[in-house]
Amino acid sequence: MKKGKKLYEGKAKIIYATSEKNLVIQYFKDDATAFNNQKKSTIEGKGVLNNRISEHILSNLTEIGIENHLIKRLNMREQLVKFVDIIPIEFVVRNIATGSLTKRLGIEDGTILERPLIEYYLKDDKLGDPIISREHIIFFNWLNAIQIKTIDTNLYRMNDFLLGMFRAVGIKLVDFKVEFGLTHESGKTKIVLADEISPDTCRLWDSITEKKLDKDRFRKDLGDLIPAYTEVAKRLGILHEQSNVTAVNVTKLSSVKKKNK
Ligand code: TMP
Repeated sequence: MKKGKKLYEGKAKIIYATSEKNLVIQYFKDDATAFNNQKKSTIEGKGVLNNRISEHILSNLTEIGIENHLIKRLNMREQLVKFVDIIPIEFVVRNIATGSLTKRLGIEDGTILERPLIEYYLKDDKLGDPIISREHIIFFNWLNAIQIKTIDTNLYRMNDFLLGMFRAVGIKLVDFKVEFGLTHESGKTKIVLADEISPDTCRLWDSITEKKLDKDRFRKDLGDLIPAYTEVAKRLGILHEQSNVTAVNVTKLSSVKKKNK
């Protein structure tokens, strides 16, 4: 598969064309941003960890029938994925109130929600990704009612699966954000999950200590982001228990594993 020209560069990923028109290469950068790009940094090794963690989660979702863009991981930083027309909506699912939900509505931080709460945000950096209602989505033809229902059903299924997967390794899935896209194959249009799922896009708390193992470590200046992401990867069985937690060692470990394959 030949890597072609850069098609799109986002805050944490770059998309490159390939020789196949329906396939693109997704490159995971080490860049971290928060608060709509107001806070920026480069955290060595983050892209490598997110690539591995996201590959693991998306492969598991494929196994339970949640269609997604992942074809395969190519190397430490790249995945081959389906080309999609991205739907300009960020879908957030929450199990525990924190972050913008507590700020916007005054709900107490840490409140356990009786059932998962789905929220929709317009994907528009210039507008600061404003929250929108189902009615906005239908009114402005971003999706029709049937498509929203299909996505909601998938979000609840994904949430159930991810809650269980993380619970089994001592992690609470507090909330997560995903995006979907449209594929056009053999004359058929399909909605597929088209996003990374990683500690950049989820809130993950240790089940016992409630230590944050996600991008809130960067947003809130808590430090030790790489050790936290490494801990998630280790608990999911992606990295060996004995591996050191520095970015450099993650990089070395992964290349050693690859050579031994
Ligand atoms: P929020 O509480 O800031 O609205 O975030 C909800 C979830 O969505 C949380 O898991 C972090 C994730 N998220 C992103 O992945 N990208 C974003 O741009 C934002 C604002 C949140």
